[in-house]
Amino acid sequence: MQIIIQPDPTAVSAMAARLVARLLHDDGRAVLGLASGKTPLGLYAELARMHREEDLDFHRVTTFNLDEYVGLPPEHPASYHSFMTEHLFRHINVDPTRAHVLDGMADDIPECCSHYERDIRESGGIDLQILGIGREGHIGFNEPSSSLASRTRIKTLTETTRVDNADQFGSVEDVPRHVVTMGIGTILDSKACLLLAFGKEKAAAIAKAVEGPVSAMVPASVLQMHEHATVLVDEDAAAELRLADYYRHVFEHKPAWQIP
Ligand code: F6R
Repeated sequence: MQIIIQPDPTAVSAMAARLVARLLHDDGRAVLGLASGKTPLGLYAELARMHREEDLDFHRVTTFNLDEYVGLPPEHPASYHSFMTEHLFRHINVDPTRAHVLDGMADDIPECCSHYERDIRESGGIDLQILGIGREGHIGFNEPSSSLASRTRIKTLTETTRVDNADQFGSVEDVPRHVVTMGIGTILDSKACLLLAFGKEKAAAIAKAVEGPVSAMVPASVLQMHEHATVLVDEDAAAELRLADYYRHVFEHKPAWQIP
């Protein structure tokens, strides 16, 4: 894994945006896997700025979001459909027919999940998957104990995740109990993964994901098995990494062409 520690969330978001922009310059038809939640907000704002001011072009890009709440219509303000429109899609020139978000209202959820898997496969596969991490180590909504081979499916949220996401709903009771999420196996099929994290509340999860054993109890730890996984964090989220100095040293001595 490549571990990059930056001073603050702004620097993390700027570097993540440069990585995405580099991919799009190399391949205008790239397929992006996207996350929602607080973590990627700075990244999306920076991508919107690059589109506006630097002509970063998304018109042939395909996107797949990681997850969606079950039972929320796309127009619900707390749905991830709404989130993506509000924070990214309406600010860039992505083709709406190529911007995929799971349907939390589908009558046949298993069928909808297998279509999603098929669509990802038929797109040629995800080139870069953006990930956040839950306090208990989830990626997507693959909560602790998720199968490390899982595919897109329905999952039940833990109480911790419902509490953490309550601000979008007003109260914990209003947070849906079920979600549809890409599986860990689906995420691992991406050609590259970029996990972002900020803040002290993510420090324990980051330490377990990067330096702990690979375990279904910390789903993000499976990134240790990925050939091209980058963990890009601020100083606060890096606070519990035992080898933080080593990761800084490795990064400082990287050849210039490898630095985003
Ligand atoms: C959201 C997702 C989740 C979040 C994670 C962190 O699409 O897949 O794994 O990335 O819960 O959430 P924030 O960024 O709000 O701390």
